[in-house]
Amino acid sequence: MHIAVVGTGYVGLVTGACFADLGHEVVLVDNNEERIAALRNGEVPIHERFLPELLARHRGERIKFSGDLQAATRASAAVFIAVGTPPTESGDADMSYVESVAREISGGVDGYKVVVEKSTVPVYTSQWIRTIIMRNGADPSHFDVASNPEFLREGTAVTDFLYPDRIVVGVESERGAEVMRQIYGPLTSGWYYGRGETIPRPAASSAKTTPRLIITSTKSAELIKHASNAFLAMKISFINAVASICESVGANVEQVCDGIGTDSRIGPRFMSPGIGYGGSCFPKDLLAFRAVAKESGYDFRLLEEVIRINEDQRRRFLRKVRSVLWTFRGKRLAVLGLAFKGGTDDIRESPAVLLVEELLREGCRVCAYDPAAMERAKAVLKSGVEFASDAYEAATGADALLILTEWEEFATLDLERLRTLVKYPIVLDGRNLYDPAVMVEHGFSYYSVGRPAALTEELPGTRSQKKERA
Ligand code: UGA
Repeated sequence: MHIAVVGTGYVGLVTGACFADLGHEVVLVDNNEERIAALRNGEVPIHERFLPELLARHRGERIKFSGDLQAATRASAAVFIAVGTPPTESGDADMSYVESVAREISGGVDGYKVVVEKSTVPVYTSQWIRTIIMRNGADPSHFDVASNPEFLREGTAVTDFLYPDRIVVGVESERGAEVMRQIYGPLTSGWYYGRGETIPRPAASSAKTTPRLIITSTKSAELIKHASNAFLAMKISFINAVASICESVGANVEQVCDGIGTDSRIGPRFMSPGIGYGGSCFPKDLLAFRAVAKESGYDFRLLEEVIRINEDQRRRFLRKVRSVLWTFRGKRLAVLGLAFKGGTDDIRESPAVLLVEELLREGCRVCAYDPAAMERAKAVLKSGVEFASDAYEAATGADALLILTEWEEFATLDLERLRTLVKYPIVLDGRNLYDPAVMVEHGFSYYSVGRPAALTEELPGTRSQKKERA
């Protein structure tokens, strides 16, 4: 099938590359000429596992790049819109990019096509897209609009696409539904999984069978996307709130998670406490969903609380750092991780970056390292931060080491070596990557989230775990 994907950001690139791997002919469209030229030259503008392999496999064959949306529309049976919907001042999603894409698509609708919204959008967007395409002269019988929300996580987006729990398609006509069934047929029929050279199934994938394609109305599909992200963010804020109680009473949030996550009604995933969620999706989507709810006459105060807990979680971690260091001014802090989570170079709404900014305001000196996000971080953290070439260089001479992103390489540090490099053996782990007992054995005072601190020294107002054991 011939497919156009508009927008070559995280969603568009992954979607286009995966469609090509399913056997479709894909044209990726962007109005940024430099980006198109770079993609044609074989550059991969984002850090995303398996994306370079897929682009290399299909570039110039089943994947073409273009700046001409009307021509791409004419050549395609389906046009996926994957452009940005950034938040406005008031928290609503800014739909102007989607609108201008819809206007341009209109000029290319010369026979039956399905226009598919892939960007995260508020309810009613598909109706607006339809209106805009018709307003600009397209014959209403020549197209349908579908909503096909994505559930891709950065870092695992390619395998999330190819091994999904489910595929959601909102569409108002059987003709449109049939086109969407054909597009996803290689996954729903299992054909893709039986083929050689597939991207391997992730070990954690719960989907052992072929994914179900769920057909809904367009409005339901739009709500499914916002409600899914809001629910996942709520799960994270919930466990972060429980972690705070664990800290107050001396319980261990890992044990609590194990105890509640094994209830199949609750499930163990998305229950890792930390320094709060970030990224380009949850913070923006919660604001947008709250705005959608308000507009529909419902005051969704639960979402406000989810956001408040999330912000408070970052402040709690900062208070923890202060309580360990006593004073901030002039202290040298090693920071491991700047991306909003492991496996990505994305620093949008990264709690790690927000924390570093607060530490700088407090007068700390920061030496940071991230395996993928350094270039992007350098553009934002202009003064007061040194950038190291690895975790050990960052740790050298540090008053304390802070772990802020759950990169795998931060979970397997050579603790003996680390101990010899730092000025003081103090680790504050915002992602719970280590076993506290192991850290103490290696001579570190170790503070994490929702678990009792493991101390090699006595702090004013605390009693060390070692002494308590004795
Ligand atoms: C999220 C959703 O998980 C995807 O399903 C959705 O498609 C995507 O948003 C989107 O709307 O485009 P993403 O933002 O890439 O994906 O990353 P997540 O893995 O969901 O992580 C979001 C944040 O939550 C990160 O800061 C992460 O560190 C944090 N998190 C996640 C936790 O603090 N604890 C957890 O247990 C899980």
